[in-house]
Amino acid sequence: MQKAPFITSYLTEHTADDAFATLAGYRAHGGYEAARRALTQMSPEQVVELLKDAGLQGRGGAGFSTGMKWSFMPKDSDKPKYLVCNADESEPGSFKDRLLLERAPHQMLEGILIGAFATGADKTFVYVRGEYAHPANVLQRALDECYAAGIFGANCLGTDLRHDVVVTRGAGAYICGEETGLLESLEGKKGQPRKKPPFPAQFGAFGMPTTVNNVETFSHVPHVVAKGADWFRGFGTEKSPGTTIFGVSGHVKRPGLYELPLGTRLDEIVFEHAGGPPDGRKVKGVIPGGMSMPILPASQLDVPMANEFLRERKTMLGTGGVMVMHDATCMVRVGCIITYFFRDESCGQCTQCREGTGWLHKIMQRIERGAGSPADLDLLLDVASKMEGQTICAFADAAAWPVQGLLRHFREDFEEHVKQGKCPFPESFEL
Ligand SMILES: Cc1cc2nc3c(=O)[nH]c(=O)nc-3n(C[C@H](O)[C@H](O)[C@H](O)COP(=O)(O)O)c2cc1C
Ligand code: SF4
Repeated sequence: MQKAPFITSYLTEHTADDAFATLAGYRAHGGYEAARRALTQMSPEQVVELLKDAGLQGRGGAGFSTGMKWSFMPKDSDKPKYLVCNADESEPGSFKDRLLLERAPHQMLEGILIGAFATGADKTFVYVRGEYAHPANVLQRALDECYAAGIFGANCLGTDLRHDVVVTRGAGAYICGEETGLLESLEGKKGQPRKKPPFPAQFGAFGMPTTVNNVETFSHVPHVVAKGADWFRGFGTEKSPGTTIFGVSGHVKRPGLYELPLGTRLDEIVFEHAGGPPDGRKVKGVIPGGMSMPILPASQLDVPMANEFLRERKTMLGTGGVMVMHDATCMVRVGCIITYFFRDESCGQCTQCREGTGWLHKIMQRIERGAGSPADLDLLLDVASKMEGQTICAFADAAAWPVQGLLRHFREDFEEHVKQGKCPFPESFEL
């Protein structure tokens, strides 16, 4: 397996002053040469095939093939076509896109330019999370530099391609990261997800064919074009090629972002890279991919971090946000926080989601207070099961899965609350 990091190499190989954040800094390290190569030496179809061969999968959570998604854009439509770069990053435990925006905006913009060429898109909207004021400013500065240098606009890199990029800002709603909630918000409406089909490639932003990709996904693209599919496949596993950025938070000595090959074992990430829990504590559980992914107990950290392995343990890679909890942690309190978040962020369109998230939180709090009954544990699972696969978007599943994971692996914590009539973890974090 080849050595990572790659898309974050600017952090390890270059000082902050030498940052990729400026066009001069990025160009000094070969920036925009991959886009030049794609635009002048390849056809759009060849770029799409290259991405398919490389096996790059979306890094926004769902893991869909990027080349495949790009191939869905209609070729014979005379309507304007759009790309959307999803920089909403609101999944608790996920903070990789912020770094990419702040430290390497040109890398992502170059990926967008290649994507625009491959899909025939006229314009890209970069939808930045409302709270990300600084990253949005850095990105706008980088974009201004691009326009001044003729990278975007009427003749991108001196070719016939015309492509414009617009930076737009969200207003702080998690659901606007879901691609169709994002499209509604982009159009100035309430960020409520759309029923699918039609999918964005047919009916996207302002009703036009649209492709939505994550910040990290676009950031990988220039490297695939520059170095080829075999190089990319030299990282990761056969089914999940490449590297990704794992964001490690919680009870570890060295929280932070680690770019590693997909398939790196979770225990290696937690103990070797992030240093394990401080103060001689032991790990109790780890959420492997952002808050909507089911937790794993300490006994199951020997899993390679790729969906084909994580699925066997009933969880998924999600956004690669690794959240570590030590042995003093009360898992019912963890459940209270998770269900509170989803209750607050539901857009309210679907009854199962609007009511279900409220019920999950109410029952979780009752158990934490010591007022729960043994039947409440099964009631939690019953409510969660009725939310799964029933709704307009995957938010309701994302709210149900963590509750199921907590009860699958930490049922004893819940039973002790009911038995003792109080929280049995006095050293746990406060609610
Ligand atoms: C509730 C919810 C929130 C999401 N939030 C984000 C987000 O903040 N950023 C993101 O890139 N994708 C998010 N997604 C996934 C997007 O819908 C979409 O799959 C992704 O942007 C596609 O890009 P990719 O193929 O490059 O991963 C979210 C999905 C759901 C269901
Ligand atoms: S599942 Fe929830 S967040 Fe998604 S559309 Fe329905 S109510 Fe809104």
